Amino acid sequence: MRLLVTGGAGFIGSNFVHQAVGRAGHTVTVVDKLTYAANRESLADLPEDRVRFVEADICDRHLVDLLVAECDAVVHFAAESHNDNSIDDPEVFVTTNVVGTFCLLELVRRYHKRFHHISTDEVYGDLELDSPIRFTPQTPYKPSSPYSASKAASDMLVRAWTRTYGLKATISNCSNNYGPRQHVEKFIPRQITNILDGQRPRLYGTGLNTRDWIHVDDHNSAVLAILQRGRVGETYLVGADGELTNRQVIEMILVEMGRSPDEYDLVRDRPGHDLRYAIDASKTRNELGWVPAYPDFSVGLRATIDWYRQNESWWRPQKAATETKYRANGQ
Ligand code: NAD
Ligand code: TYD
Repeated sequence: MRLLVTGGAGFIGSNFVHQAVGRAGHTVTVVDKLTYAANRESLADLPEDRVRFVEADICDRHLVDLLVAECDAVVHFAAESHNDNSIDDPEVFVTTNVVGTFCLLELVRRYHKRFHHISTDEVYGDLELDSPIRFTPQTPYKPSSPYSASKAASDMLVRAWTRTYGLKATISNCSNNYGPRQHVEKFIPRQITNILDGQRPRLYGTGLNTRDWIHVDDHNSAVLAILQRGRVGETYLVGADGELTNRQVIEMILVEMGRSPDEYDLVRDRPGHDLRYAIDASKTRNELGWVPAYPDFSVGLRATIDWYRQNESWWRPQKAATETKYRANGQ
């Protein structure tokens, strides 16, 4: 297939392009605005005859029109993706995540193209700690932050366009991703690079908030399976049974990097901080035969730490500005 991948210079999108071109044999056009979160280096070493890069805003309908017209399917990763930023400055989250998705939907409607929308489990709000309940495709939406509200709004647009205009669309809601090429503002790379810089990791609040970690390659193999075998109009939840408290994750990182597991600081909590996310991915597993390649978080974490050790030139340019912003917030 000829895929148009939005946000393909970001964390998950760039890893997707590597997998879609390498393993699945697709050709790809990336459209990306190159915000602070993008890194052109993430698309290095890809075959030039199979990957094309276009710098553009998904809200620029005139420019993106031509790209949608010539592709077979759009895989929509582009978004403002960081909760903390959405609390400080929500407007761009509404512009890119809601209006940007609207612009793409209109183009996909015009050209009758297949559309896959990448979303998050955060649209469902949070769960109690120590409860057996997990998110399913039937869980009602209850987003907490400007980020998750903007993603929930974009999901609703996709559903409405599918029902009203018969759009050939699918949605996936995935849990927290980790792996190579993730911006140092996010939890796991921030702590790994802090330790590499001789700084103590920083945990929000009590550190008992729980996330359901999945390796980025497993998220992307699920997206490829949905593109190939997913039923149009359906929502698929993606997760790899990786529930851990933030404290457990930080202790694993410290031990893996040869430090004592208590060498971290508790800092100011995030306003409205979701307690716990957990995904029941049985529909995706049973219907698509999808199986994660990293069922053991510690294996993927070790590889991720190695990646940051070996790729300092990739993350170093963003590190100081990211930490300055956090420190100004007491985090
Ligand atoms: P990211 O912030 O690393 O990358 C986002 C990319 O989108 C960047 O390259 C950026 O330049 C681009 N972009 C932003 N605004 C744009 C615009 N207006 N036009 C064109 N390009 C634009 O994000 P990520 O972590 O890779 O997340 C990708 C998608 O996956 C998002 O939709 C996010 O909501 C979703 N998601 C993320 C996670 C996670 O754990 N990171 C989990 C589930 C779902
Ligand atoms: P994050 O990577 O921002 O993802 P999300 O907000 O989408 O879950 O944060 C993951 C968890 O880690 C979340 O509970 C907030 C917490 N966190 C810290 O404790 N310290 C940090 O420095 C950061 C960035 C996050």
